[in-house]
Amino acid sequence: MAKNSDVAILILAAGKGTRLKSSLAKVLHAAGGRPLVEHVVLACVAVKPKKIIVVVGHQAEKVQAVTEPLGTETVLQQPQNGTGHAMLVAKRAIGNAKYAVVLPGDAPLIRTETLRALIQKHKNGKAAATILTAVLADPSGYGRILRKGGDTVAAIIEESQLTAEQQELNEINSSMYCFTTAKLWPALAQVKPNNKHREIYLTDAISVLNAKGEAVLAEIATDSREMLGCNTRADLAGVDHTFRDWKREALMRDGVTIQLPETVLADPDVIVGEDTIIEPCVQLLGKTKIGARCIVKTGSVVHDSMLGDEVIVEPHCVVSASRLESDVVVGPFARIRMETHLKSGARIGNFVELKKSVVGEGTKAMHLTYLGDARIGSKTNIGAGTITCNYDGFHKHPTTIGNKVFIGSDSALVAPVKVGDGAYVGAGSTITENVPADSLGIARGRQVNKKGWASKKRRELAAAEKPTKHSKKRR
Ligand code: UD1
Ligand code: MG
Repeated sequence: MAKNSDVAILILAAGKGTRLKSSLAKVLHAAGGRPLVEHVVLACVAVKPKKIIVVVGHQAEKVQAVTEPLGTETVLQQPQNGTGHAMLVAKRAIGNAKYAVVLPGDAPLIRTETLRALIQKHKNGKAAATILTAVLADPSGYGRILRKGGDTVAAIIEESQLTAEQQELNEINSSMYCFTTAKLWPALAQVKPNNKHREIYLTDAISVLNAKGEAVLAEIATDSREMLGCNTRADLAGVDHTFRDWKREALMRDGVTIQLPETVLADPDVIVGEDTIIEPCVQLLGKTKIGARCIVKTGSVVHDSMLGDEVIVEPHCVVSASRLESDVVVGPFARIRMETHLKSGARIGNFVELKKSVVGEGTKAMHLTYLGDARIGSKTNIGAGTITCNYDGFHKHPTTIGNKVFIGSDSALVAPVKVGDGAYVGAGSTITENVPADSLGIARGRQVNKKGWASKKRRELAAAEKPTKHSKKRR
């Protein structure tokens, strides 16, 4: 893709976002699985501009921490005296770039292609400014475009300053512009804070340019959703909805079957292989990567995990920060967490929790089990109700179980402890010492059968009952 080395992009991200009623700065609120400003920066990076400058103010350090790792420069605007003031603060950083693209940090749906088209239109039209706009059924909350006719713009009128007849204007200012810097600076110098907030509005530079006889163009975006800003919680929900739609569409284009797509949520970095089926009400979060021909069944949440091919996640599982190799089956109702590694063909059943454990090839733990800090070999069977007692109140300890081991049901393995290859553990054991290979470890009270005890007991109890029964009948 072509570079735009004569363009500096400025992202305005200093505002508080009063209308969100939040202690978190607006541009740090998330939609579509990322902070708003991160979406904007990512769209800009692919434009390959000379530089990307983020104007920060409110919660400056937190905003900077999101944007700088993506290669942006930071300019501090303190106090925040309006969008025009933000531009002026960044003037030195913009330096000798011939063009400045300005974007609000709160409109995250903008795509790289749209920015490239804006720059192209501006250059071709030899304009002083080119504005991206949208025609909305409900334009409330936005500044409106006052056209001169044709392609050109007379002014942007902020909502609070609309006259009675201007109320009908439904073409909105997205706050995304391309300026020719040599024309912008003198115009901006003439803008006065003539509004109730006493702010310098960048929008007022448009009417100044127009009055000077400069060309101001407007381009109606092909997809008006890209222009949407987030001023309220409802705006955030709307934008999030669009991101989720786009992600699901992308996954389906890549050959993924999604049932009842509107109930499925996938974060932007999620990758899913061909012919995988995602059932309703599934969430795929973080950097999750799922192979081909898997089935993730209803109600499951997979977070930052890697799944191989043909993995089956039965309903209502939670899988986080773990790796499931091909042909693994988990659930229903399994919890696989924190650095767990299930090797090929492992089978984890219902109400089983795993934490920081490695489970070998073809090993099974099918029912009601907790395995924490455990290393288990291949073709081992972990009986129902097995528990690794990995915590002594101060430290976590490992449990090591070999290949082809059989752990009987309801065993407690008190770590640190090892069970060798081919060993058996008797059901109900509390194992506190290592079990050598091919041995039987059994650690429970011995069973004693007392012959005739039960019938004798019954006779005694019946005799004691009798007098009371008779006395009742007589009455
Ligand atoms: C702005 C536009 C409006 C447009 C709308 C599109 C102005 C005066 N109005 O209104 O025409 O329809 O965006 O969403 O420009 N910011 C700063 N420093 C400041 C003030 C704001 O960096 O001093 C940043 C904010 O953090 C935000 C962006 O600029 O990311 C826009 O500010 P916001 O307060 O949301 O402006 P709107 O009222 O939405
Ligand atoms: Mg806004």
